[in-house]
Amino acid sequence: MATLASIYRPVLLALALLRPGHGLAQSARGPLPQLGKAPLKEVLAALTPEEKIKLVVGMGFYPAGFPEGLLPASDPEDRKVPEKVPGAAGRTHAIARLGIPSLTFSDGPAGVRIDPIRNQDSTKTYYATAFPVATLLASSWDTALVRRVGAAFGREVRAFGIDVLLAPGLNIQRNPLGGRNFEYYSEDPVVAGHLAAAFVNGVESQGVGTSIKHFAVNNQEFNRMKLNSAVSERALREIYLKGFQLAVHKSQPWTVMSSYNLVNGTYTSESHDLLSALLRQEWGFRGLVMTDWYGGHDAAAQLRAGNDLLMPGTSAQTQALRTALQSGQLTPAQLDANVARVLELVLKSPTFKGLAHSNQPPLQADAAVARQAAAESMVLLRNEARALPLKAGQRLALFGNTSYQLIAGGTGSGDVNRAYTVSIAQGLTAAGFAVEAPLGQAYAQYLREEKAKLPKTKGLLAPAPVIAEMTPVAALLQAQAQAADVAVLTLGRSAGEGGDRKVANDFDLTAAEQALLRQVSAAFHAQGKKVVVVVNTGGVVEVASWRAQADAILLAWQPGQEGGHAVADVLSGQVNPSGRLATTFPMAYADVPYGQEFPGKVKAGATAGTNPLEGTASENTYNEGIYVGYRYYSTFNVTPAYAFGYGLGYTTFAYAPLKVSGSATAGKLTAAVTVTNNGPVPGREVVQLYVSAPAGPLAKPERELKAFAKTALLAPGKSQTLTFALTAADLASYDTTAEAWVADAGAYQLKVGASALDTRQTATFSLPKSVITQKSRRLLAPQAQVVEMSAPAKGK
Ligand code: BGC
Repeated sequence: MATLASIYRPVLLALALLRPGHGLAQSARGPLPQLGKAPLKEVLAALTPEEKIKLVVGMGFYPAGFPEGLLPASDPEDRKVPEKVPGAAGRTHAIARLGIPSLTFSDGPAGVRIDPIRNQDSTKTYYATAFPVATLLASSWDTALVRRVGAAFGREVRAFGIDVLLAPGLNIQRNPLGGRNFEYYSEDPVVAGHLAAAFVNGVESQGVGTSIKHFAVNNQEFNRMKLNSAVSERALREIYLKGFQLAVHKSQPWTVMSSYNLVNGTYTSESHDLLSALLRQEWGFRGLVMTDWYGGHDAAAQLRAGNDLLMPGTSAQTQALRTALQSGQLTPAQLDANVARVLELVLKSPTFKGLAHSNQPPLQADAAVARQAAAESMVLLRNEARALPLKAGQRLALFGNTSYQLIAGGTGSGDVNRAYTVSIAQGLTAAGFAVEAPLGQAYAQYLREEKAKLPKTKGLLAPAPVIAEMTPVAALLQAQAQAADVAVLTLGRSAGEGGDRKVANDFDLTAAEQALLRQVSAAFHAQGKKVVVVVNTGGVVEVASWRAQADAILLAWQPGQEGGHAVADVLSGQVNPSGRLATTFPMAYADVPYGQEFPGKVKAGATAGTNPLEGTASENTYNEGIYVGYRYYSTFNVTPAYAFGYGLGYTTFAYAPLKVSGSATAGKLTAAVTVTNNGPVPGREVVQLYVSAPAGPLAKPERELKAFAKTALLAPGKSQTLTFALTAADLASYDTTAEAWVADAGAYQLKVGASALDTRQTATFSLPKSVITQKSRRLLAPQAQVVEMSAPAKGK
């Protein structure tokens, strides 16, 4: 029989939830504690449980283009509160009575993504700069440049009154088909980690925050909200987590964004191993963790794991947390710990500090930063018989849709609402080249007509529509080959959030592209004229089958709104290209390890939910283990089309012998190398330091990048000495059995050079005995053993 107490308990509990921690007496005792004035503890104590729940659940998300009802509902009252920054991705709740303001978060990795027009009033606009995508920035291998770009981002974040930029993304480019690879830096965690740290430091130098994302092992879009990445602890530590670890150490970002996927059976946003044991305790992260938008499924488990803020926030989460508090699934102490981190973020924010925002970022200055970053990072893949640079004033015939309609960046949350995009045709014209008008007119007409036929797709996750390449009529092609000095043919690719790429017609060229290239190449070569191909892509494409038809190939990536100018800067020789690949270009997709398994499989018996955004339970097993990117190609002797680290310039560099001093066991080994510009024009060199480890208990990749640096602009004949420091920790691999990072004893080879395949100088040193550089413990273990490929025996 029900007792009185059992009937009343839920009512009493509900009432208790509404009471401030100090009880009603508190307000009678005097003014309420105010954030920033009273100690944090007092503010915490003054919050009601309901207010605390508000602080850990965001205020919802209402993007244009999503039918009502597709996204989970949030509190309708929240929607009525006018947005401070229309088009921003999310905001936190204010608790006005305690002086806690609402914070605003906005994407993304290529620039601030907000609505450029507010309330249909186009007399005042809110455009942000579309910077080059992260993959391009990584090709600079230039931490100083990326920091400068970050500072320009930070200025815009600050000018628009935003508190946290939802960037940078630094997932590993595990497979060329990853739909969001353009938002990420590299296939290598050392490059990704150092560049992410530089970017974070740049953005945060402006007094605003960042969110390094998506933590972690989020390498494909396929069923992204329900995909389990099954990966060994070693590959996790050495490949997928290491970049984040470096970024935390070197930049201590304000926030981290957990990812959508599960790792070894647990949602990352619900993983205590990942968010607390590793990120906070082992790496010393001091900031806040937020979910990716609608990520994970158990709100209380997320808070317990150390995921402090649920974004963008739903009514279901609010209700789940109320219930969890009542049932004890979520303790008040745990909730307080999460709330404290939200409040610490608020305390740092420009909104809390009451900093004025102009809504007028220095767009001209930032466009110049975007242009410089793009020009300095593009990669010259091929330059036969010095086809480039072009000669001043040459007549150019521009082929390919994207010569006239540059793809500035990818789609989805990594896109930017920009005021303009400079096309390659415009850039080359502005640089003084004579761009053939008849061809321009033919393309303009073709693009206009084809655009009118495209289906009307809209919305955040809609892929960019593709217009097939035009086949120029033979007479026009012949006339152009007579009239112009050089053909410039651009190939374009777009991809983005919500989908992965395909091999046919995306990684590989389409039939129309191949035909265009063949015809242009034949017509111009018959006249003794050169063909320059510009590749305007966010991800890797196949190049080996067609490159012989081009005299030069410039990989322009997706270069942002100033891209056309930046391409012209490089083609004209105004800028000597110094970008190098931070991701391998394989000969064919078939060479990608476990490429046929990408992006994973739907789990046996799994059925799709009613909401298409949720996806179906799926799994992707990382059978290649640590052999990702060049680690695979170098170790398994698979020759790529263009190696990691590769890139040409208009000059060349000589490397003097490597000088090694100190010792890694004694704390620091120093390697110094002097490079000299021995070519005809000023240029910059990216010097890469690889280490080959001795044969030991753990199999190792043939080589691994440990450090890199870029010279200043060196005039012909000038030299610069670059110095690298290595510690035993830099040599260590993660030994799962020992639950520790271990540097094996033996002879190590240092290889310094201009790509993973272009070693210029070597030196050796040895570690007399093996060293445990860091003890850890069993974390994030796979549910079933992941069967990994093993390396061929050394010396093969
Ligand atoms: C993306 C995040 C982004 C967030 C907010 C998510 O769909 O995965 O990268 O920051 O939306 O727009």
